[in-house]
Amino acid sequence: MDNPVIKTLLSHRSVRKYTAEKPTDEIIETVVRAGQQAAFASQLYSVLLTRKKAPYGAPLWFTICVDLYKLERFMRIRGWEVISNDLSLIFFGIQDAALMAENMVVAGESLGLFSCFLGNTPYQAGRIQKKYKLPPRVFPLVELIMGYPAEEFPPRPRYPLEFTLFEDEYPQMSDEMVQRAMKVMDEGYLAQGYYVKQKAKIRLENGKSETFTYDNYSWTEHISRKWGQWLTDPQELLGQLEKCGFRITEKRSLTPTPQESTAGQAETMDHEGEDV
Ligand SMILES: Cc1cc2nc3c(=O)[nH]c(=O)nc-3n(C[C@H](O)[C@H](O)[C@H](O)COP(=O)(O)O)c2cc1C
Repeated sequence: MDNPVIKTLLSHRSVRKYTAEKPTDEIIETVVRAGQQAAFASQLYSVLLTRKKAPYGAPLWFTICVDLYKLERFMRIRGWEVISNDLSLIFFGIQDAALMAENMVVAGESLGLFSCFLGNTPYQAGRIQKKYKLPPRVFPLVELIMGYPAEEFPPRPRYPLEFTLFEDEYPQMSDEMVQRAMKVMDEGYLAQGYYVKQKAKIRLENGKSETFTYDNYSWTEHISRKWGQWLTDPQELLGQLEKCGFRITEKRSLTPTPQESTAGQAETMDHEGEDV
């Protein structure tokens, strides 16, 4: 099946080299408007932009944030305050922000602009908060650099569909099935020379000696090294969330009068299954 939307989606690639051409304000606004039109739970996001000195020399550098500040501002005007816990809100905020960010990527690509996410953002939240003078309750989730590409290469591989789409029940996964998926990914990345071009081999820790060269170091080894050696302390992220005014483990309580309590329950039931 083929149409312009599917073609754009299947041609996606993250670009890390950009020309000096600067996208116009109209293009930037179109990309962000298209991002906003993603489905949302509660529009719990804001997008920061700077055109100054972005990574990889990109002309645009967005930071997509989970934003509870705007919600709380308008709820206050309505005479309400947030009582939901921050763990729930951050999940909904991540869903909203991620969908909007990916819409921006796709909109950009449809206009010839390519991009690359930078995923270390949550660990830099305190620094970004200062840089953009963020109010409390705004958490930088992911950065997205964007511009016109100065490199050409085919799309990167993905797992085979048999390793991704499971109808009615999750399959009994044999080692052969897992290995087939690993082969698709590893051979696909090796064919592009992805890790050798980026010199992106992750060093082994704890005295383990290197047995891979760039001839056989590929995606599944890379990802295994990443998640097998990194981010051991949850406090690091909880600390960043706290800097931005999020209290993930705090339990909040509503103390309504008995009358209000019954009314609240009826309202909740009326809305079950609708948007959050
Ligand atoms: C949440 C997220 C974080 C990412 N972080 C980085 C990053 O920090 N640096 C980078 O060069 N690429 C980053 N990427 C890009 C991925 O490496 C890239 O999407 C993946 O290798 C698949 O390649 P493709 O997008 O070209 O298909 C990130 C992508 C996502 C979705």
